[in-house]
Amino acid sequence: MPGTEYEQIVLAGADDHDLTRLSEYEKVGGYQALRKVLGMERQAVLDELITASVRGRGGAGFPSGRKASFVPKPEQTSKPIYLTINADESEPGTFKDREIMLRVPHRLIEGALITAYTIGSTSVFIYMRGEYLTEFEVVKAALDEARDRGLVGANILGSGWNCTIVLHRGAGAYICGEETSLLESLEGKRGQPRSKPPFPAISGLYASPTLINNVETIATVPPVIMRGGEWYATLGVENSNGTRVFSLSGNVVNGGNYELPLGISLRELIYNIGGGIPNGRKLKAIIPGGSSTPVLTADQVDVTLDYDAVGAAGSMLGSGAIIAIDDRACMVQLALRVSQFYQHESCGKCTPCREGTRWMTALIEKIELGHGTNADLDLLVDVCERILGRSLCPLGDAAAMPIASYVDRFREEFQAHIDQGCCPFGDSSSLDGILSPVQQHARMTRELAVLA
Ligand SMILES: Cc1cc2nc3c(=O)[nH]c(=O)nc-3n(C[C@H](O)[C@H](O)[C@H](O)COP(=O)(O)O)c2cc1C
Repeated sequence: MPGTEYEQIVLAGADDHDLTRLSEYEKVGGYQALRKVLGMERQAVLDELITASVRGRGGAGFPSGRKASFVPKPEQTSKPIYLTINADESEPGTFKDREIMLRVPHRLIEGALITAYTIGSTSVFIYMRGEYLTEFEVVKAALDEARDRGLVGANILGSGWNCTIVLHRGAGAYICGEETSLLESLEGKRGQPRSKPPFPAISGLYASPTLINNVETIATVPPVIMRGGEWYATLGVENSNGTRVFSLSGNVVNGGNYELPLGISLRELIYNIGGGIPNGRKLKAIIPGGSSTPVLTADQVDVTLDYDAVGAAGSMLGSGAIIAIDDRACMVQLALRVSQFYQHESCGKCTPCREGTRWMTALIEKIELGHGTNADLDLLVDVCERILGRSLCPLGDAAAMPIASYVDRFREEFQAHIDQGCCPFGDSSSLDGILSPVQQHARMTRELAVLA
């Protein structure tokens, strides 16, 4: 990761040490937080997490300490309590969890152990994206090393507490990042969502209380415990504490993952840290939180990257994937790529998402090819509205929200396709490296499945 002037929390130490090795991780204070909590009351650890108020880094941004508090205490349930870590990372544009797993796997393991201890769990599952072959090997090696040293398994560090961690590989389905589909998949079933309630905290894996958190959320836990929830809450801005590992991509000079305090502006990230738009081109649009989040226009580049500000600008911080789009892009083509992805990944269980994503794609394709009419554009907006809030899981919203925003904010481009009977950008539209076409995703997944 290219360095910045900002203090790193989740990725701390990884620039100077090979933190995939246990001995190196220990040199930077590794597993001290675990040692600390093993001498603490569970409630005291939970209080620290609640004070830190780390909002879930997987997308929805729910405060993680509060979510952990919804899990019944061991004395309140006869069932086992599970911790499941969501390492599926399939949201297009997002590649931060892989960096965490590749560079600080022990921080993830330590965070998992502390969280498990806090909720009274003795079984952790890490559900990892199927395509992440190297990440799997790195986390597995770290886990083996930790197990050999008595940090995972029976009687951890002589405390009498046991905790197992199981690594599970998915098979390349975006829907399996959705928490209830992930649980179905983990149970060996087809990855499709369950209706909620009951929420996983009450009835999750094998109908038992289950806490589900993103990789980055969990990797934040050890520093929070070492330095305290109050310290963590001083980082970032009000209601958006701490740092985030932002994945910057698209038309920028220096794409990559950057761990930065929440509340820095898009302008600073794209121009100062990311080096700006290549070849002196102009910024046209910004996707602020992964492909499922509504697009922002270039004049919104001063929006700060915190949950409230991005929300007020009409979008979401989502998975923290910022995609810069320059002035060559045809926004109809981009909308088509997004729509094709969601159509391809819709699991088919509920009608609004299964049928709606198909309709969206067909209409956008028609408009892009120059065969669209004004009635088609109205119908596209109508289809988006009929999906929103009506699908079984948020995949439907994730598909409809961005498409509605492309039409709303770049309507004149859709209109120009209709009026001119062709794509005004023709072959000169460049979306190189931006949300690869779905055929490419599908091919990659197939190739990796053959390799595995
Ligand atoms: C279609 C869909 C895909 C998702 N994919 C991911 C993912 O790849 N990784 C992730 O952490 N959360 C993903 N989520 C969010 C999870 O459902 C869940 O909210 C998250 O794992 C909770 O962890 P957090 O509270 O730490 O953010 C997805 C949600 C939806 C609707």
